[in-house]
Amino acid sequence: MIGVGLMGRRHAENLARAVDGARLVAVTDADESTRERVATELGTTASASMDALLQRADVRAVIVASPKRFHEEHAVSAAKAGKDVFLEKPIATSLEGADRVIAAARKGGIRLQVGFQRRYDPAYAEARKLVSGGALGRPLFYRGVNRDLLAPVGPPGSMDANDILTESAIHDLDGACWMMSDEVVGVRATLAIVGDRATSPSSDLTMIELAFSRGAVAHIEAMWGAQYAYDIRSEILCESGAIIVGGFSQTMLTVLRAGERHEDLYPGFLERYVDAYVAELRDFVGGVLDRRPPAVTGEDGRRALAIAFAAARSAATTRRVTPG
Ligand SMILES: NC(=O)c1ccc[n+]([C@@H]2O[C@H](COP(=O)([O-])OP(=O)(O)OC[C@H]3O[C@@H](n4cnc5c(N)ncnc54)[C@H](O)[C@@H]3O)[C@@H](O)[C@H]2O)c1
Repeated sequence: MIGVGLMGRRHAENLARAVDGARLVAVTDADESTRERVATELGTTASASMDALLQRADVRAVIVASPKRFHEEHAVSAAKAGKDVFLEKPIATSLEGADRVIAAARKGGIRLQVGFQRRYDPAYAEARKLVSGGALGRPLFYRGVNRDLLAPVGPPGSMDANDILTESAIHDLDGACWMMSDEVVGVRATLAIVGDRATSPSSDLTMIELAFSRGAVAHIEAMWGAQYAYDIRSEILCESGAIIVGGFSQTMLTVLRAGERHEDLYPGFLERYVDAYVAELRDFVGGVLDRRPPAVTGEDGRRALAIAFAAARSAATTRRVTPG
């Protein structure tokens, strides 16, 4: 494990306790107290650096869950050391960086899997099966809602305005392409601050329209600071029906208030994707052992990042943009 903060700690726990065929042999983190604490809690060893971890002969694969600005460096180093890599999203912070990660993986002959865990969520996986099986005809429209409970707080301008695209909306950008089995040819997007401007470090809302090559479209909304819950929903409208992930009731009025608990609504990603995080690591470890190609590839990671950057360019220019 490289990086055992919020997300990495969960992956480490899952590896140690829920994934057959895997043994968690070492964790590293830039923060000494974090790596020592997690190693002690999970009964493994703490490596003082990534290099020390990568030099270990008993490390066959690594999970990278460091902040995104280190993803390229960490994934490329692991690939050069011949270790298979599970890399949290986003794959890199630039398309050139994503290309370098993919090239290093190819050159090192290693498996590279990117952390789009939604593909492993039971409801999303079933929806995808229905859509691609053609049970409801051709998919026409994908709608995604992706809201975080809390918004980051900081001086205005202290975060990149596009972070909401590359950190949050990216799950739906990948999810929409995966669900529609299609490529995006046009992107329109806006970025906004709808929360408290005095404490918002960057955009906290994005609305993105995607045009797919076969004529389908998507609308994706990502938001930080919904206050009532971590709210993830999708709808796939097809020629002869609709598939809804996240609930639907035509005649019911639902009011969601901050501070109230609601059945089937979660405070955050760690609670919402309990099963998906385990399933994606089981698939990663199974793939490492069987040497089968990863279900979520570096190219998938690059594609979602390219759409996120196209959305950023569209928001800046108010024009429709082609990802590339
Ligand atoms: N797939 C998902 O649902 C999901 C959810 C949350 C976060 N993430 C991703 O996981 C990654 C980590 O996010 P997080 O929320 O856990 O952040 P975090 O800040 O909680 O954890 C990051 C950890 O990395 C450590 N770190 C920083 N620099 C490092 C370095 N150079 N080498 C090793 N360790 C270093 C930090 O000390 C910290 O412990 C991000 O890429 C984020 O986008 C994915």
